[in-house]
Parts: sequence; C-alpha cells; structure tokens
Amino acid sequence: MTNKNPIFLLLISMLLTISVSSQESKESRRFNLIPYPNMVKVSDGTFTLPEVVTICSENNSALLDLIKWLENDKALTARKVRKKHASISLKITKDFNPSNEESYQIDVIHKNITIKASHEAGLYYGIQSLKQLFRDRKVVPTLQIKDEPYCSWRAFMLDEARHFKGKAAVKQILDEMARLKMNTFHWHLTDSEGWRIDIQKYPLLCQIGAFRKDSEAGTWKSGKLHGVPHSGFYTQEDIKEIVAYAADKHIRVVPEIEMPGHSAAAVAAYPWLSATGEKIEVPVKFGKHKDMFDVTKPEVIEFIKNVLSEIFELFPSKYVHVGGDEVIYDQWLESERVCAYMKEHNLVSPADLQIQFTNEISKFIEENGKVMIGWNEILGSNIHAWQDSTERAVTTELSQNAVVQFWKGDTILIREALEKGHNVINSYHKYTYLDMIKKPLAQIYSFNPKPIFLDEKLKAGILGMGCQMWGEWIPTIELMQERIYPKLAAYAEIGWTLPINKDYEGFTLRIDALCTEWEAQGIKWNKSILKRK
Ligand code: ACM
Repeated sequence: MTNKNPIFLLLISMLLTISVSSQESKESRRFNLIPYPNMVKVSDGTFTLPEVVTICSENNSALLDLIKWLENDKALTARKVRKKHASISLKITKDFNPSNEESYQIDVIHKNITIKASHEAGLYYGIQSLKQLFRDRKVVPTLQIKDEPYCSWRAFMLDEARHFKGKAAVKQILDEMARLKMNTFHWHLTDSEGWRIDIQKYPLLCQIGAFRKDSEAGTWKSGKLHGVPHSGFYTQEDIKEIVAYAADKHIRVVPEIEMPGHSAAAVAAYPWLSATGEKIEVPVKFGKHKDMFDVTKPEVIEFIKNVLSEIFELFPSKYVHVGGDEVIYDQWLESERVCAYMKEHNLVSPADLQIQFTNEISKFIEENGKVMIGWNEILGSNIHAWQDSTERAVTTELSQNAVVQFWKGDTILIREALEKGHNVINSYHKYTYLDMIKKPLAQIYSFNPKPIFLDEKLKAGILGMGCQMWGEWIPTIELMQERIYPKLAAYAEIGWTLPINKDYEGFTLRIDALCTEWEAQGIKWNKSILKRK
C-alpha cells in the first residue's frame, strides 16, 4: 500500500534530507580527529593505502616522520620517489596561506594524497591529521581538510619544581602534545620547593636547591608528610636534549624561572639572595614562602641576570617566563634597607618595587632579543584576598612589551592588560588548572581563551591559552597522567578549533580512539571525567 498524500511525501523527503545531512556530519566526525579541523569535506570515492606507499617530499623531517609511521604503525613499506605518481605528496608552497605557518590542507583523492602548507609546521600538523585519519584503517573516503589554528599559543605547563618527573615523562608529554597540535611547553623549573635546572655559574642552586628532606602529602595543610626525601634536576645536556626533542615536534620550550617570590630553594642555596640573609632549608611544605629575592641588592640583580644569560643560551625560544606571582612582601617590608630604597626611589608600595624590578628584567630580556612573560600579578593589581590592599601598585607601569599570563582575578583584567598594549595568554585557573578543577569536562571544553566581551581588535592581542599541571599533589607520574588525560585533548581543541566548530558531544565520541591508544601505551587517564555531565 502506498501513500500518495503530498504532505506525507514532503515529510518523508524532509526526514530523508535530515538523515542524509546528519549522516554526512557523522561521516566526517567518525575520523576521530582531535583537535577537530576547521573544514572537512567528504566526497564519494575512496582511497586505499597501498602495500608499498610512495612518498614525494622535499622536506626531510616530514618525510622521515611519515615513513616511520607507515612502517612501524601500519606495517607497510614506504619509499621516497620523485615527483610523479607518488601515493602521498608533501608540499611546502610559499603561496599557501603564508600568513599562518601552522595551516595546512589535505586532499585525499582516489589515487593519491597531497598535504600542502607554507611552512614545515603546517606540514607537520597535516601529517598528524593524516595519522588520525588512517588510525584504524587503510581505506578512507576521498576528502578535503582545510585547517588552521584558532590560537597561535597552545600551551601545556608542567611544574617540576614541586615534584621532579624526569626526561622520559617529559618526552612522553611532548609526544602527546605534538599529536594534539599543541605548540608550547611551558616548563616551571624553579620554585620554593625545588630548583631543577643546573646553572653552571651557581652550582649550589642544584647541589642544595634540588634536594629537600621531605614533602607535604595529600593536600594543603594536611599535616602529613611523605616521609622520604625528594630530589632531581636537569643538567644542561638534558635540557638541550629535551629542547631539541620538542623542536622536532614543532614545540617551543618556554622556561619559567620564578622571581622575585617562589624562590626559597635559591635562597637555601645562596642565603645572601634574601633581605635577611638567613640560612634556610629547602621548604618541605608547599605554598607561598616569605624567603625570596631582595631585588634592591645589586648583587641579586647580577645573580638573576647571570642565571638568565645561561637560560638564553639553553632555550632558543623567543619567550622567557619570570613568574612574578603570589609574592609575599613581608621580608621587604620588614627590611629597613628595602624600605629606605623604596622611599629613595619614590616607590609607594612593594608592588611598585616588584614592577620596577620586573621592568629592569624585561629590559634585560629584550636586550637579549627575547620577550618576557609573567603571571598577571606583574601588572600590580591585588588579586589575592590574603594580600593587604596597601600592597597594590599605584604609580609604576609595567613595560608594555611584557606578555601577561592571566590566571587569577576578575576577567576584566584581561581587557585592562590588552588596553595597555600587552599581549595576553589566557590561563584562567577556573578552567585551565589541571590540579584543581573539578568542573565537568563539558564545562572545561566550553572555555574560550578569547572572551566574547572583547572587541575584535583587543582579541587580536590574545596569543592563546595555557593549561597548567601544578605539581604539589602529584608525586608520581601515574597521578600526574590521571590529571592530564583526557583533559589535554579538550585543551588542544580549545586552542585549535574555532569556537563555532567545537562540538562537545562529537568530542566525547572522537576521544575514544585516543583513550584506547593511551591505554595501549600504559598512559593512565581519568575514565570518570568522561561520564560526568
Ligand atoms: C599560580 O598559580 N601561582 C600562577
């Protein structure tokens, strides 16, 4: 029996259209691409990876990466060929979207695949997407992907000052960042509870500062200790090895050397660095400590500049992070010399003194061809309930070239920083602190590093986003991994995929394949967070 009623036929045809288009979107979603590309167009044909894959590429590192994957993961034979009849062609073409070095295009047609980019980074990301496309198959539909990142700064921060993790753990994180197209490894290498990078001019920084007798356990003020000493540091050779490993994956390494606060481990090594000059031990309890650099002493400024000079040599990155957060000003305010210095230099508050110091360091960093980054306290606003309101900067302006990493306070401070001409990295703790957020993943995923209350001109000053793995309560690599994964994938998509193309439900489906891979590699990941709504 057939129904010829025109309304019935119209309804059927509408239903068919809806099901075809949702079919189409499912089709593209089923590739499990993370971060999701900004355009995926699937067409009718198919492409099959042959047993012997021929590759044409003028770029050697991309070629080697591809060959390694085809031979090791896909168990195929891969061979380099000249231009014609290659199964896969990798092309760096200067006229392809030259304004964005990380953009790429993939064309999969019946007989071959082409990846185009204007720069090696784009080619690298094209290959990461290709690997995901063929993750569990050798046949894919013909398609085109056009892709470029939402943010140019897509960072993951690891705090190894609190608990040292070592080279192998760092390299594994870099591997995961690279396939998720994250391009910045922010390395928190010094803090009050540990100094983790060898500085040749000051050997005690590691000989004393990299060791502590014990560690607070569990959580803040738990009153518990692990009952074992903790230590670890990177030699300069180790640092070079990690920096080169990251560079191969198009990841810049940004070192963070905390100043003037969060520096008690350095004071334990060289007590003359503080205002009191008192001998202390590397603290076993985590948090804010009042022992810190006295920036009114010329020898302290010289020390900091000498440390930074070694840092410049070790890290090719244009950016150097100087911390600047959560400074407890007690030691400065209790020191007659520091107070006299402030008076002499018309510095109204200790925050003014901090800014004056930060500006001097920023100038030094610039003279060395680099750019300084600091947490948003470097602007001088009082963002902490524990801080006295008189400790707020009232007169001194932060040097405009400083990049402000926003983590705490009213989000309006982002606008203020941008209006003053600073570039901003958005690491708002409520969304990006891996150690503390309890939000459901869906809410984390909704984070937009470029707040919608900003106009387009100001938004352009936001370099991107960072997510932070602070180390106080993660003494083991396993605990650290459970905090990082699967959230890292959400942050990757936050940084890369245009907000309009983000889709949480799709993300929860696409992430399965990644979790399976983490499982196979022995990486621990938090299963419960995927279920939480
Ligand atoms: C910070 O979390 N103290 C930057």
